[in-house]
Amino acid sequence: MKWTRLPVVRQFHEYMTPRGHVDALTGTRVVGWALGRGPLVMEVWLDGRCLARGRPQMPRLDVAHFLPERTAATTSGFALDLPVGALASQSLGELRIVARYGSRWLPSATIATLRAAGDDLERRLGEAGDSGISGPFPKPVIDAIAAVWPEDCEDLGAMAGQARFARRLAQIVRTPGINALPAFASYTRYLAATWAHCRFVERHFPATNRSSRPGAADFHCKPNSVRELFAIIHQLYVLRSWGVAGEFAEFGCFKGYSSAMLSFACAQLGLRMHIFDSFEGLPPAPGSGYTAGDYAGSLDEVRDHVTRFGAVECVSFHKGFFADTFRRWRPPPLMCLWMDVDLEVSARDLMVIADGLDPRGTIFSHECEAGIFRDGKIVSAPAPDNPIAPMLDRHDELGRPLTGHFIAGYSGAFWPKDVGIPVVHTEVLWSLLESVA
Ligand SMILES: C[S@@+](CC[C@H](N)C(=O)[O-])C[C@H]1O[C@@H](n2cnc3c(N)ncnc32)[C@H](O)[C@@H]1O
Repeated sequence: MKWTRLPVVRQFHEYMTPRGHVDALTGTRVVGWALGRGPLVMEVWLDGRCLARGRPQMPRLDVAHFLPERTAATTSGFALDLPVGALASQSLGELRIVARYGSRWLPSATIATLRAAGDDLERRLGEAGDSGISGPFPKPVIDAIAAVWPEDCEDLGAMAGQARFARRLAQIVRTPGINALPAFASYTRYLAATWAHCRFVERHFPATNRSSRPGAADFHCKPNSVRELFAIIHQLYVLRSWGVAGEFAEFGCFKGYSSAMLSFACAQLGLRMHIFDSFEGLPPAPGSGYTAGDYAGSLDEVRDHVTRFGAVECVSFHKGFFADTFRRWRPPPLMCLWMDVDLEVSARDLMVIADGLDPRGTIFSHECEAGIFRDGKIVSAPAPDNPIAPMLDRHDELGRPLTGHFIAGYSGAFWPKDVGIPVVHTEVLWSLLESVA
């Protein structure tokens, strides 16, 4: 048995272990407080080197207020100055702030680990020019990272390259100072705001469709997952950053679940969202397995939901079956479209507008299985309940054959093979969200 497992030793260890907090790393100064059961020394470590050392002896009346029984709390403050150039000027590092006693037999404690940037990093990242590198991340973010770490911007079309890029980005957004640069602050602010909003909608949006027929598939008002919808939300930001012009269109809104999340994202970007739906449910489609009127949500119901859960001020509603809506009229130019229309006939009817989509734009569709994406090719046999085949045909006809990949659930992403801006792989996006949102 290890001696530290003896209860009396463990209690002594816990009693003696220093506690404290780092309030800030500002420039080259680390400030905070630390308290032990006797005099302490504070140390700042980087890669096995001790960069600074000093005793807590500054007044901290706030700490004394919360720990009145500890008289030493009154002077538990510390401020440690790091030597100039402690961190190589263009590198990122992790500082460890340690509190210890004079005796090595008494326990020490790491009271914080902080990410820090070298002196010149902020300038290099902030002044980055056009890198000429493209990929499924915002252009200013790619350009900034490429200016310092070009090796992390290689092969951004592949999952491994995207994951490497996302790891570097996660380090940057956790590093004070450089994470305030406009390219990173604006992107992470968007991700954090839209992510929090998606969670809110997921929790609060009504789940039960009270007008569903017994046995019908539309009993549930939340037919998509956040994982599917967040891929669209991310891509809207990416497309904007690459200067792709146009508005955003949703085809098929049911009760407005996806509309609530996506309209909020549009509001963050100042983007107009067009919602196209019959507001009477699906049209008749023999052989599809659906019944006409399935997935009906009235315009009043959807508008009410988007008002309560989304950003209705960004939305233009277009009521009618697609075949009627687009008989003579065309929407304004689009940068991205999302279709969740269940039927081959519906996809065919709406695809007449495909020439209005920017050639670098993106299409997301429900009714996708992972198996249709095969090494950049898409293989999807026509069927009454398959909207993918008409979409592929129409883009072949326009001379813009599509490629794409599976997102999650039943959704896929598609973009013109030659000029389109790819969509980030879902696993990469989710690991990035864990560190930024
Ligand atoms: C599965 S629901 C959409 C679900 C929605 N994305 C959500 O998150 O709740 C399919 C929608 O497509 C609409 N729809 C399908 N075909 C249509 C057509 N030809 N014209 C107009 N609306 C159509 C239906 O009215 C229905 O609202």
